Amino acid sequence: MSNLVSKEIRLKARPQGMPKASDFEVASKPVAQPGEGDVLVRNIWMSVDPYMRGRMMDRESYVPPFQIGEVLQGGAIGQVVESKSPKLKVGDFVQSMFGWREYETSKAENFQKIDPTLGPIEAYLGALGMPGMTAYAGLFKIGELKDGDTVFVSAASGAVGQIVCQLAKAHGCYVVGSAGSDDKCRWLEKEAGIDKAINYKTCGDLNKAVGEAFPKGIDVYFENVGGAHLEAAINHMKPFGRLALCGMIEQYNDTTPRPGPSNIIQAVGKSLKLQGFIVSNHLDIVPSFYAEMGKLIKAGKMKWQESVEDGIENAPKAFLNLFSGANVGKMLVKVGPDKAV
Ligand SMILES: NC(=O)c1ccc[n+]([C@@H]2O[C@H](COP(=O)([O-])OP(=O)(O)OC[C@H]3O[C@@H](n4cnc5c(N)ncnc54)[C@H](OP(=O)(O)O)[C@@H]3O)[C@@H](O)[C@H]2O)c1
Repeated sequence: MSNLVSKEIRLKARPQGMPKASDFEVASKPVAQPGEGDVLVRNIWMSVDPYMRGRMMDRESYVPPFQIGEVLQGGAIGQVVESKSPKLKVGDFVQSMFGWREYETSKAENFQKIDPTLGPIEAYLGALGMPGMTAYAGLFKIGELKDGDTVFVSAASGAVGQIVCQLAKAHGCYVVGSAGSDDKCRWLEKEAGIDKAINYKTCGDLNKAVGEAFPKGIDVYFENVGGAHLEAAINHMKPFGRLALCGMIEQYNDTTPRPGPSNIIQAVGKSLKLQGFIVSNHLDIVPSFYAEMGKLIKAGKMKWQESVEDGIENAPKAFLNLFSGANVGKMLVKVGPDKAV
């Protein structure tokens, strides 16, 4: 054992409905000394993501459930502070799935080196990481986006949504996004450059607002929310429209199953394609994703927002922010100093 102690967040209870602070506990653990082939990494940033809510339930899914009393997992960016592997050296910045903790000792293969010169290192958890890749895979592979399409995006100002909006704009599309505050809508129109943002909390009749925003209909709907958003999109899809089902955050905390979209029958008559996807099944896109993002960032055509909670103790608060909409853009937790060595 080293003399270091790592603070970590464990799952204390499986949340019933909306998670509560008491479903999590802060604990400490001695940090293991690296053995042959291992590295010791000090985390600097960690990510909280909506999919983690599903892992808090005891059920079969595409990722195994978190276990009560065990440290949670998720994306993290850190720096190697000790190395017993030729694969990584002290000072290297790395990403891993060892989030929700300050330190981790593990085989070097469990960390991927990142290039800190491409952008701020925390962007590898957002625009240049899983959320950005989700936007890219969903829009192009699942949504089959064509230049000039009309595109509707829900949770448009979030980590995934903000990238979807700008990728679609870069392809000459007419883009409308929905978000839960006037500030978020303003950023989408003024900074992300979309054609119209709908504040779904104050617009009154969402279906009417979507219809007015798309007088000629929607080619591609990028679904992050579900419920009334999905029904409104289906009502206004053009024939042969594509719906990329990325997530349905509105129902992640439901305790009873809800009925499906009441207007799903329209999928038949309009020949709609509704397809769900999980980003990890589309890793073949990584090279083209970086090529396109690199080009857009260089041209000043890709911006992103981040919200930051400070300290590992505030990771549960950051996670809860995702369900109240308190985050603007990618929700991150700063868990350590900018440089660990
Ligand atoms: N399929 C995949 O591989 C994959 C990968 C990553 C993410 N996702 C999904 O993509 C979606 C966005 O994820 P993200 O990481 O980018 O999160 P995010 O959009 O940055 O954060 C979640 C946002 O959802 C909105 N929201 C929360 N509860 C809502 C509700 N009841 N009704 C309407 N909006 C609500 C809030 O924004 P407002 O202020 O606008 O309400 C909140 O800020 C999620 O559904 C997530 O599960 C899927």
